[in-house]
Amino acid sequence: MGIQFDAQHKTFHLQARNTSYVFRVTEKGHLEHLYWGRKISSASLGYLREVKQNSFTSAAMQRTYDTGSINAEYPFFGNGDHRAPAYEVVRRDGSTVTELTYVGHRIQKGKPRLEGLPATYAEGDDEAQTLEIDLVDSVLGLKVALQYTAYENLDAITRSARLQNDGQDNLTLLRALSANVDFPRADFDMLNLAGTWIRERFIERRPLQSGEQGVYSRSGMSGHRHNPFIALLSKDATEDQGEVFGFNLVYSGNFLAQADVETLHNGTRVSIGIHPFDFSWLLEPGEAFQTPEAVLVYSSEGLGSMSRTYHQLYRTRLCRGVYRDKPRPVLVNNWEATYFNFNADKLVEIAKAGAEIGVDLFVLDDGWFGKRDSDNSSLGDWFPDTRKLPNGLADVVRRVNEEGLKFGLWFEPEMVSPDSDLYRAHPDWCLHVADRARSERRNQLTLDLSRDDVCDYIIKVVSDVLASAPIAYVKWDMNRPMTEIGSELLPPERQRETAHRYMLGLYRVLETITTSFPNVLFESCASGGGRFDPAMLHYMPQTWTSDNTDAVSRLKIQYGTSIVYPTSSMGSHVSAVPNHQMGRITPLEFRGHVSMSGNFGYELDLSKFTQEEKEIAKRQVAESKEVSELVQFGDFYRLLSPFEGNETAWMFVSADQSEAYVAYFRVFPDPLQPTRVLKLKGLDSARVYALVGIEETYPGDVLMNVGLKVPEMRGEYQSAVVRLRS
Ligand code: DGJ
Repeated sequence: MGIQFDAQHKTFHLQARNTSYVFRVTEKGHLEHLYWGRKISSASLGYLREVKQNSFTSAAMQRTYDTGSINAEYPFFGNGDHRAPAYEVVRRDGSTVTELTYVGHRIQKGKPRLEGLPATYAEGDDEAQTLEIDLVDSVLGLKVALQYTAYENLDAITRSARLQNDGQDNLTLLRALSANVDFPRADFDMLNLAGTWIRERFIERRPLQSGEQGVYSRSGMSGHRHNPFIALLSKDATEDQGEVFGFNLVYSGNFLAQADVETLHNGTRVSIGIHPFDFSWLLEPGEAFQTPEAVLVYSSEGLGSMSRTYHQLYRTRLCRGVYRDKPRPVLVNNWEATYFNFNADKLVEIAKAGAEIGVDLFVLDDGWFGKRDSDNSSLGDWFPDTRKLPNGLADVVRRVNEEGLKFGLWFEPEMVSPDSDLYRAHPDWCLHVADRARSERRNQLTLDLSRDDVCDYIIKVVSDVLASAPIAYVKWDMNRPMTEIGSELLPPERQRETAHRYMLGLYRVLETITTSFPNVLFESCASGGGRFDPAMLHYMPQTWTSDNTDAVSRLKIQYGTSIVYPTSSMGSHVSAVPNHQMGRITPLEFRGHVSMSGNFGYELDLSKFTQEEKEIAKRQVAESKEVSELVQFGDFYRLLSPFEGNETAWMFVSADQSEAYVAYFRVFPDPLQPTRVLKLKGLDSARVYALVGIEETYPGDVLMNVGLKVPEMRGEYQSAVVRLRS
């Protein structure tokens, strides 16, 4: 188990749970990738070392060794490999040729932290092993340390690289990716999660074709358009079978994740890391650059198993803090209830109505500070608006607490409104480029978090508010992409470092604040799911999944999100009808069932509920609390895809398989009413399960092979949920 090095053949064998990952040092000192897939008993793969021809050179015709002919671990540039390199570096003389050779390695137990960057972690030394390989380009004086961690009980391997200038001259990085994998085959499909605002993470699957194909962000945020994730799937791969290779970047800024199919090799090169577009990084002698972490997951049992590996890893070894292992509170958020139009009495009225149905937490969203009556002003002025909260924030917190609810608060600390005291005092504190107009989005500008003074200001101002009252929850919002990406404090040759320096600043801010307020539950948000990435989850264990709260739309959004991210990370609220984004009217029960499959809450004016609605909501809150442990900590199985038809179904199974929770949704009526059975997954076939509240029992093997009968339904927007217990 763990990581083995065969000194005779200079071969590394990384073993995660059921996974092997093998590469070797060639005779010329280069790292050659040999295998990634289902666990193998021997890493003696010398018989694969046939050098392929790679070009029309006579050397190639003679089948001699050539850097362009090997499957590389961290490919370099300028000496024969014409596929995408993992890094690119400019020397003082302007040349970009580089070549890395092996000088040594270390294997250690556990997993060291990544300096300044969020990453997965190991809690005990026995959970994982880490390999660090030193490679050098002695002409440049460049040292590259590749880091690999293999998890003992998960099919996950993490990778990153640290590039250090050990020479005498400045070097400039133009590209520094996190990981590269060369597959000796191209018969894959690529799966990715694409979308836009209010339509995030829709599943796309397409056959690989020649050339480069992939997903990216150049907006300074991981973004709504693409998630920093791709997977390669064998052609026969489904939810439950076939090979799947997942790649996910632990990063919230610009990224590139691509597959390059190269006909000559009939191979596929997957590259993932910070997008090289508009990026450069000056390395003065002695300086180093650490790339973000890429999380590679292998599954020989289809997409479902890949997802469950990501879920378990992220739930237990990416997220941190007291709420990592604690059921999350049921909350009511006032955004769609009031937007900017509220006062203290209105907030307390909603909280009081929440208390009547068993809600735990009231969240005050946008509009409580400065003079913010619309999105036109006040971001940056984080002091309570005394017109709306005449007795201050602490008073409204006290009043909400008196109703029996905890209190949560919205911030958007990375932003500034041009109409704000902060901007008037510090017009240079936003991202900008001299002589260029500052493009506003949602009437706001982005603070320059590449600056230490700006980060320190954010830490202080947010901490002061959090210390001023018993605030139990923070919604950390961020509502625009970057434009005019430049920093007043950086010299010209470092301007293209701004976007990444912003991320490093943001991570420092988040690390400091979340550490100082360990009992606060943090939820991130970026116009809904515009920054739903593993890096944010490292600091904040949940994310507002989408600004689209329509329950039917949420089926696809939550299903797509579940490809990588655990349900414990998805904020999911019942909102009013007609729905504010889609105009659709769905039953309260249907909305409740969709929301219960994530972190449950309400996003409407509970005080306007009729008595009948109150009764339903009361039952919903109780039901959500009964299933919250399963939903948040259970294994998640997708049963029916909303991308493929009129029905959606998924289920959650406890780790010991003694309990399960199944949710089924049907959007349009089916006049023929065929008998519908749902084949369940993940149960123990030898056990007998009782349907809670219904006097029926079924053996696990029957439920999984024959199926559970779905109750008859009439009309549109129907749902059914059931709990199983053995
Ligand atoms: C965008 C978020 O996604 C919404 O939930 C809400 O918090 C608004 N911002 C407030 O401006």
